[in-house]
Amino acid sequence: MKELVIGNLVAKVPIIQGGMGVGISLHRLASAVAREGGIGVISAAQPGFREPDFATNVREANMRALTGEIKLAKEQAKGGIIGVNIMVAMKGYEDFVRCSIDAGADIIISGAGLPMDLPKIAAGSDVKLAPIVSSAKAAKVILSRWAKQTDRTADLVVIEGPKAGGHLGFKADEIAGYTDEMMDEEIKKIISVVHEFEERYNKKIPVVFGGGVYTRADIDHCLSLGLDGVQMATRFVATEECDADINFKLAYINAKKEDIQIVKSPVGMPGRAIRNNFIRRTENGKDPIERCYGCLARCNPAEIPYCISQALFKAANGDTDNALLFCGENAYRVNKMSTVKEIFDELTKE
Ligand SMILES: Cc1cc2nc3c(=O)[nH]c(=O)nc-3n(C[C@H](O)[C@H](O)[C@H](O)COP(=O)(O)O)c2cc1C
Repeated sequence: MKELVIGNLVAKVPIIQGGMGVGISLHRLASAVAREGGIGVISAAQPGFREPDFATNVREANMRALTGEIKLAKEQAKGGIIGVNIMVAMKGYEDFVRCSIDAGADIIISGAGLPMDLPKIAAGSDVKLAPIVSSAKAAKVILSRWAKQTDRTADLVVIEGPKAGGHLGFKADEIAGYTDEMMDEEIKKIISVVHEFEERYNKKIPVVFGGGVYTRADIDHCLSLGLDGVQMATRFVATEECDADINFKLAYINAKKEDIQIVKSPVGMPGRAIRNNFIRRTENGKDPIERCYGCLARCNPAEIPYCISQALFKAANGDTDNALLFCGENAYRVNKMSTVKEIFDELTKE
């Protein structure tokens, strides 16, 4: 496998660990991945949820915790690359971007909406910028806007397919019928959109794909399509280093194929999760909302079936019966605890 080169950043192994919120990918997982030569990514989704003043001081608690996580990850990465995943749908998006830059993140990866203004917010910094897209159309819209607005282009493009975990950039009724062949065709189209901008800016823009990448054969297939690397998340959950509670990891280990389903989320995009009591309950009624954490730019607590922050805090803390357990389509293939090193050893063996 060739290294993944993003400007002056060189990852020895072309594997990016996808950001996982809330509290699933923080400094422990991200630094472990970076030490193995991949790119470790911290999730900026409500990182302050364990801070003592979180309930009364959400913004400051989040900024303090995110700064701490990035600094710890950079220290423990021993020279490795640390990114931050920031969702466009989050309230305070600009603050999260600036905080990540100030704390020393190497790269910002941004999706769950179109990161139209990211270069403007990050202007003046040399942090690398990467949009997450699911279609050639979205890639074209974002890269054209970045070119027009700030005369710059992306440093990396992350493509996310319908088998990914967390929120998905596809309509709920599209997901089941979206075949691997359709995704491969879309990947080729996205690569050719990116080529236009590579020529215009005379720079290499690597493109990686995530969503169901699980084995070395999957990685080799991605590379054969002309991609420069992969983004993987689900495989890293049941590792000793993953920042989630042990019960969250065990939910993956115990999940069967038929337990994994598409769910509605207050974010307004479909998501994928493990079917549990929480999903059964919220299918037929409203889950009591304890309080509003002001997490989303657009959310009306009176209209939603459950609070996404509350459901994800419970996941990270291991209250798995009352939590939304986000996962990728392949979560049922995870059947034991391992370490980040073991996964990298398996995936990089020639
Ligand atoms: C538990 C979990 C939480 C996730 N949270 C986020 C998130 O907060 N923001 C985001 O952009 N992607 C999120 N994702 C998507 C991952 O970053 C990644 O792109 C995707 O899951 C890759 O597919 P895979 O899990 O099949 O490897 C999440 C995925 C999982 C499994």
